[in-house]
Amino acid sequence: VRVGPGHGGLPVVFVAGRTGSAEIYLHGAHVTHWAPAGAAPVIWMSAASRYVPDAPLRGGVPLCFPWFGAHDGDAAAPAHGFARLLDWELADAQDDGDDVVATFRLADSPATRSSAWPHRFEARYTVTVGARLTLALEVTNLDPSDVMFEEALHTYLRVSDIASTEVTGLEGAPFLDRLGGPDPQAGEDGPVRFAGETDRIYLGTRSAATVVDGAVVDGAVVDGGVVDGAVGRRVRIDKLGSGSTVVWNPWVDKSAAMADFGDDEWTTMVCVETCNIRTDAVRLAPGQSHTMTAVLGLTA
Ligand code: BG6
Repeated sequence: VRVGPGHGGLPVVFVAGRTGSAEIYLHGAHVTHWAPAGAAPVIWMSAASRYVPDAPLRGGVPLCFPWFGAHDGDAAAPAHGFARLLDWELADAQDDGDDVVATFRLADSPATRSSAWPHRFEARYTVTVGARLTLALEVTNLDPSDVMFEEALHTYLRVSDIASTEVTGLEGAPFLDRLGGPDPQAGEDGPVRFAGETDRIYLGTRSAATVVDGAVVDGAVVDGGVVDGAVGRRVRIDKLGSGSTVVWNPWVDKSAAMADFGDDEWTTMVCVETCNIRTDAVRLAPGQSHTMTAVLGLTA
């Protein structure tokens, strides 16, 4: 484990373990790279990402907290909360011989207390790097009254071709379509497939989802081949303490509209996000903690 400057001079925790490698920016405690030893990177980063203190990175695993998307009551509040915009402290890093475990900490500060969510809290984010990547976000309520928050491990994953990608594990789950239409909508019977901009919050989804790259589409195996090493892979995302799952691909127009996202990059990424949002938002009594965990791994 080594801490050094990354893009834009921002401090990064570089992990080169026996079983996997990773990079985590202190800015947002943002994982920007993870690969099991001997495998191609699993996490997607945009080549157009900015690396500046006052903007989030594009790609990787933004930590969305304590709200998801636009803030309900405050249009000026930053999208997806303040956690991905602040510098987290590296509290601990241990190499246990197999995995490397790094823990990051964020507490309330004048910046958070003057925000749309003015509560006292402590967040600890434990990243375990190995053949699997385990992301565990623990939030403790230090306020004298109950607090509520939303949270997301907004994981961007590499795929060889979004048109041949499927997401399984969400069959039958109702979803909120962030692009419009009735809420909630009945989930599909089969896997989620992509034929246009997709931005959905699947509710009540407590079990694993799997991203299947190069899945059979229209009866044929599609040969992607755009991203070396990603072709034909399955990435399984197990989770605990999470009730919602967001699936996102911006497709053509939204990609073109985002300054920090390459116009053609949408073909090689998909977000499958481990979350607690909307009706799955977390309520904590004073002194209580809650942990949301995602475990990513390549699977056969
Ligand atoms: C997704 C949201 O999780 O994040 C989308 O569902 C949003 O609506 C996307 O566009 C990216 O958000 P941002 O703030 O990082 O551009």
